Amino acid sequence: MRSHYCGQINESLVGQEVKLCGWVNRRRDLGGLIFIDMRDREGILQVVIDPDFKALFETANQLRHEYCIQLTGTVRARPDSQINKDMATGAVELLASDLVILNRSLPSPISLDGHQKNAEEQRLKYRYLDLRRPEMSDRIKFRAKITSAVRRFMDDNDFLDIETPILTKATPEGARDYLVPSRTHKGQFFALPQSPQLFKQLLMMSGLDRYYQIVKCFRDEDLRADRQPEFTQIDIETSFMSADEVMAITEKMIAGIFKDLLDVDLGEFPRMTYLEAMTRFGSDKPDLRNPLEMVDVADLLKAVDFKVFSGPANDEKGRVAVINVPGGADKFSRKGIDELTKFVGIYGAKGLAYIKVNDIDAGFDGLQSPILKFLPEDVALSITTRVNAKSGDIIFFGSDSYNVVTEALGALRLKLGEDLGLTVDEWKPLWVVDFPMFEEIASGLTPLHHPFTAPIGLTPEELKANPEKALSNAYDMVLNGCELGGGSVRIHEQDMQAAIFEILGIEKEEAEEKFGFLLEALQFGAPPHAGLAFGLDRLVMLMTGASSIRDVMAFPKTLTAACPLTDAPGFANPAQLTELGIQPIVEDETAE
Ligand code: AMO
Ligand code: AMP
Repeated sequence: MRSHYCGQINESLVGQEVKLCGWVNRRRDLGGLIFIDMRDREGILQVVIDPDFKALFETANQLRHEYCIQLTGTVRARPDSQINKDMATGAVELLASDLVILNRSLPSPISLDGHQKNAEEQRLKYRYLDLRRPEMSDRIKFRAKITSAVRRFMDDNDFLDIETPILTKATPEGARDYLVPSRTHKGQFFALPQSPQLFKQLLMMSGLDRYYQIVKCFRDEDLRADRQPEFTQIDIETSFMSADEVMAITEKMIAGIFKDLLDVDLGEFPRMTYLEAMTRFGSDKPDLRNPLEMVDVADLLKAVDFKVFSGPANDEKGRVAVINVPGGADKFSRKGIDELTKFVGIYGAKGLAYIKVNDIDAGFDGLQSPILKFLPEDVALSITTRVNAKSGDIIFFGSDSYNVVTEALGALRLKLGEDLGLTVDEWKPLWVVDFPMFEEIASGLTPLHHPFTAPIGLTPEELKANPEKALSNAYDMVLNGCELGGGSVRIHEQDMQAAIFEILGIEKEEAEEKFGFLLEALQFGAPPHAGLAFGLDRLVMLMTGASSIRDVMAFPKTLTAACPLTDAPGFANPAQLTELGIQPIVEDETAE
């Protein structure tokens, strides 16, 4: 039905007859001529309908927005005065000779021309129309370029694309499972995979080393701009590769994709330990585009006569740290500081002490702050020296437990970087390594990654003796403050895997019931193996500059994990439920 896409028409085709299929983006009637902006997935082209072609002109008169049409015509150059530099096809136009209306359209319930902002709920309800907007279709097309580049890289490096089950058993990645009832095993449920973690490890045990899959994962968790209940991983696993080798090859893939698709050179990714990331940036996914850093000052404040500081400074679990904001002294009024104090309060900080550095050359007299009365001169000046403060800077203090200060100042750092425009427009990738194996939660220890991650340099006995101190052989790739991917060297020995379950308080019986198949498989010559998974949606979001992963997914869910287009989830048919052996607690009130 067509010879070219609208967006492909250019000066090289002048004089040629082409056949196009697409939609009416706009129709204008100008002095007897009709102009149609015709759109398809590759772009927009101006079409001219001359009244001399009578039948054609009459058909064109019927056209409305979003009518689906087929046009035949001759490409011609526009006169110089009419060249539109903002349009990819702006140097040419099509003189139509035939027009077929393939289908009519109701007026679009959402604005497609970008002049009006549509509510996201409406955009999702009419997603098929929303995706007609070039801004959206461009992102979806770019996503396809990324997956194509991933497949090329993986194929070139001898990775095998292998599918793993969607109806399976729970895979612990820290979220709730989506369950699927079984009809043939009444009362029993499959879980949708939170990731293919266990199956990709089993594939290594099968000897199919170098696996990859671009795969859907399902997690029932609180949603945000970078989290969806159903999302896509670029999932990778290898045998006989060290952590360094996995990082090297996956870094090469990401760097190659940026070079090929954006002509961006990411350079060699620096590595930073988890401890350094938390200490300097208050985050395990530090945004290195932001120049602000946290600096510890507890050692200077142990002896001051100000409990707010001396308390945490002398407490093993406390932390006192500052952030120096260059040029920030005159940016914050009393009210502004009150607002920041409220902001850090969200993270549990009980206040936000500050010192304004009005004149660094004037020593103590050049400083301004309500807390100076509590600080000996030499202490205040040691702090300004440590952060290398200059005239016009402001220093903010956090003093509390380690976690509160780290989180509160980490969040403040990001906020100030954005609000004051300090965050630079660059690409800043890094690897975060040497994570703790476990973190403490109310009920005990929980893995920082997943329970199949190997510790660094410990026997099962050594790990059990001191699990809180153990570091894991895990690595996260972070880009501009976003966790793009994460992985680790896996446990390939049964006794170590059993030790981890024990540390996590998973009883032998429970471990057997949940992961017996893995513990068993580990006893049949399981090879050393390691891997990683990238969040494809996040990668596309960053590369296209979208502000949410919803904008790079064709059919995403809302923040309450629903689909306004299909109205999913919905109540099930009672007969279907009976067949499944399920009795709902919440009844369908709309049912008869
Ligand atoms: P992890 O849980 O870190 O690791 O997931 C890997 C990457 O997937 C992306 N991601 C998400 N993207 C969108 N919505 C979500 N809800 C979501 N959750 C995670 C992130 C993240 O870095 N099996 C391990 C990987 C491994 O060890 O090989 C895993 O799933 O970009
Ligand atoms: P206060 O003595 O409580 O009036 O506090 C004096 C100053 O210290 C105020 O500017 C408070 O915002 C600040 N402050 C109080 N508690 C903390 C804290 N935990 N961390 C940082 N600053 C604090």
